[in-house]
Amino acid sequence: MRWQGLVYSRKGSHALQEAEAHFVLRAPNPHAQAVRMRNISYADLANPSLHALPTYEPGKPIETVALEYGIDAVSIVKMASNENPLGPSPMALAAASAVLRDANFYPDGNTTLLRKKLAHHWGLAPDQFVIGNGSNEAMILLAQSFLLPGDEVVFGSEAFIVYKLAALLFGAKPIPVPMPAHTHDLDAMRDAVTAKTKLVFLACPNNPTGTTNPPEAILAFARSLPPHVILCVDEAYAEFPTLTADLRPLINEGRKIVGARTFSKIYGLAGLRVGYLYGNPSLATLVQKARQPFNVNLVAQAAAIAALDDTAFVHHARETNTAGMHQLATGLRSMHLDFIPSEGNFLVFHTTGAKRIFDTLQQRGVIVRPLVGYGMPESLRVTVGTHAQNERFLQTLYEVR
Ligand SMILES: Cc1ncc(COP(=O)(O)O)c(C=O)c1O
Repeated sequence: MRWQGLVYSRKGSHALQEAEAHFVLRAPNPHAQAVRMRNISYADLANPSLHALPTYEPGKPIETVALEYGIDAVSIVKMASNENPLGPSPMALAAASAVLRDANFYPDGNTTLLRKKLAHHWGLAPDQFVIGNGSNEAMILLAQSFLLPGDEVVFGSEAFIVYKLAALLFGAKPIPVPMPAHTHDLDAMRDAVTAKTKLVFLACPNNPTGTTNPPEAILAFARSLPPHVILCVDEAYAEFPTLTADLRPLINEGRKIVGARTFSKIYGLAGLRVGYLYGNPSLATLVQKARQPFNVNLVAQAAAIAALDDTAFVHHARETNTAGMHQLATGLRSMHLDFIPSEGNFLVFHTTGAKRIFDTLQQRGVIVRPLVGYGMPESLRVTVGTHAQNERFLQTLYEVR
């Protein structure tokens, strides 16, 4: 009976319906039944949403490239995942090391101290924060908390791929809106909103394009959305541009807006996986319910708390990025290569034969990111590195292009 119950709950799978007919209509023959059971694949049993899901392709780790090409890992520079080239915040590193001795304990499942610290940092209340295993997880939790099959999710056609994944994962329909000049077209996004729209994602700055919209335009866009729509402003790189929108007045007004931030970029803690949502307490309370009890580990919590005080490191990281961006832009211009001016810690440049250039750079120990998955097959994305790393990238690109 249990087996039949499973079959009835998975509509649309022919293999299962046939198996069900066999199971129900014929006298049970244990051998035939075993053969039939073997013909049912895991794919038949899977949640149908998974079939449409594209695979997220992360930047290649240094160790993998070292193995693949037989080169010394120490000589490789990874400029593929928009990580901080300066390493982790030193204050975060010290806190993380100190707390390791308590690794026999579960972490605080309520992330009490981190939410308190964030509340102080932002002038908000602790119950306005949801901490995730990276902001990636936090945004998936947001989607999980609100999306139902048939809902629509609006985002830019060249926006961070996770928005599309979040929609598909919960059976919602992704609505990508074209991005002229690689920038979010806020009017077109507003026009794409229907009665079925539940979530809108807006990355400021966006990955991979590096573009952002003026803060006033973002706030006006947020105000223009109807009350059945939640706007998630993804601010993973918001510490890099000179101007960013302050979402707090809109949150306090009761607008359906939520910010997503991360410790992966300016604080240099990508490997620890910690990020957060901030918004209305009633939104946060709902999203908290979708979360696993210990989703953010002990070390990540301690490091994030300390990182928020490391203003000297943040300042240094921002200055290094500004100088590095200038260095990369100057180098690309001198090679007559077009690029998209970026407000983040990465840059997209256009080239013919991007696949060959990507492979050759990698063979020579410089890892960048191809953008085929974003519909930009003749573009590559490079993360701003230290002065020496940028120089190495530019010199190698000059030789291989
Ligand atoms: C736009 C954007 N949002 C969110 C994330 C996810 O960051 P996290 O490491 O916090 O999951 C990234 C990571 O690259 C990103 O580019």
